[in-house]
Amino acid sequence: MSLAQNEQMVSSRATIENLKVRCMVCGAVRTADVPISVCPTCGGLLDCLIPQLDQLTRSTLSAGASDQLKQSGVWKYRAILPAIPDDAVVTRFEGNTPLYFDDRIADYAGIASFGLKHEGQNPTASFKDRGMTVGVSHAKAVGAKIVACASTGNTSASLASYAATARMAALVLIPEGKISAGKLSQTIAHGAHVVQIQGDFDQALTLLRELTAKYPVYLVNSVNPFRLEGQKTTLIELFEQLDWQIPDVIALPGGNLGNTGAFGKALLDLSEAKLIDRIPRIVTVQAAGASPFTQYYDRGYADWRPVEADTVATAIKIGNPASLGRAERTIKLTDGVVTSVTDDEILDAKAEIDRVGIGCEPASAATLAGVRKLVHQGLLPAETIAAGILTGHVLKDSEAVVRYHLEDVDGAPRAGANRPVSVEATMSALEQVLADALHG
Ligand code: F0G
Repeated sequence: MSLAQNEQMVSSRATIENLKVRCMVCGAVRTADVPISVCPTCGGLLDCLIPQLDQLTRSTLSAGASDQLKQSGVWKYRAILPAIPDDAVVTRFEGNTPLYFDDRIADYAGIASFGLKHEGQNPTASFKDRGMTVGVSHAKAVGAKIVACASTGNTSASLASYAATARMAALVLIPEGKISAGKLSQTIAHGAHVVQIQGDFDQALTLLRELTAKYPVYLVNSVNPFRLEGQKTTLIELFEQLDWQIPDVIALPGGNLGNTGAFGKALLDLSEAKLIDRIPRIVTVQAAGASPFTQYYDRGYADWRPVEADTVATAIKIGNPASLGRAERTIKLTDGVVTSVTDDEILDAKAEIDRVGIGCEPASAATLAGVRKLVHQGLLPAETIAAGILTGHVLKDSEAVVRYHLEDVDGAPRAGANRPVSVEATMSALEQVLADALHG
């Protein structure tokens, strides 16, 4: 099929009657012409169905995208996304994020090559924007008036921005005092209705799911299958950047497990479309204090037990992840691994990513810490070619940077602490600093 024919095919099916979702549990298929986040019959998680995958080629992934939408790193893959009509698409030209290689990072992990794809370089500085553009567009397509999420900070910042772009109202539930100041400021600045819950993220999400079941409020947490379709494009873009040389391992942090679920869906769709000839192993890394998925994986997927979460990486401080079923599918599909790392391991890996000039927020660094741990445990060989997803920007949590570098641990600075010096406003004081810098 020619590109022109393919474009025609995609644009003609871009109507909400053609948006189909299928329940992962009971298999029921429905038209998503109304707000829908879980299966109305059995409560199971939903997958968006992408028609005619078998007709796609690597060069027709953008079929159906207007010149404007091709500027978005999500909508440039229009042919493998739900066919939401153009006039409902809400975009801030997200995606198109860089892939960095630095041998200091590969050495730290102990492997041959470790590319870092920086999703913190999205419009609101986290990976959430890729999913939010599709979720909010679907909300607009079905005529929703108010969109809502519970959040550890990044989803809320992203939702607030996309809702404002779409001129829709946003309702955000956050655990009071438990999200970073930067994320809270973004959410407030973009005009969301911010509700601080006197509880944790898991309680906030449970409450919000009850609210959205009762009232016409569109839920954009990652249980929403449309969000995950946008997040799928992280992998497609990564593969294009690697000239479709699929790495052995792709590592990412796991909290609510939406992204782990989205990566599995990307690999399923790309395999069905025969655009990839091998499946990379997905490595999901949790914080040790918020690791219910790791524990479940270690028990051979038996006896699911939520935990009370506690970690310095507030973005992934989640004890009862909503996308568990999807994430389990991803790990099984890819012969993947689930592991967890301590807060100190996260902070040290973050300091390394920051020090080489790339920078990320604490949760993102679980990626590097996790791969390093698996290599040390002998579970990943030194020849591994890996890619890691940096999910948020270094400025998302500047308090964490200040604490790491400026606060003592057991009465002494941390080994790699970089402390500003304070000097008199004189040339000789400055010359002394210069001499130290040159010889230090
Ligand atoms: N990294 C960052 C920076 C995050 O903000 C999140 C999740 C994750 C990783 C984990 O991704 O939930 O798909 O497994 N943040 C959500 C939020 C929960 O509300 O911003 P996940």
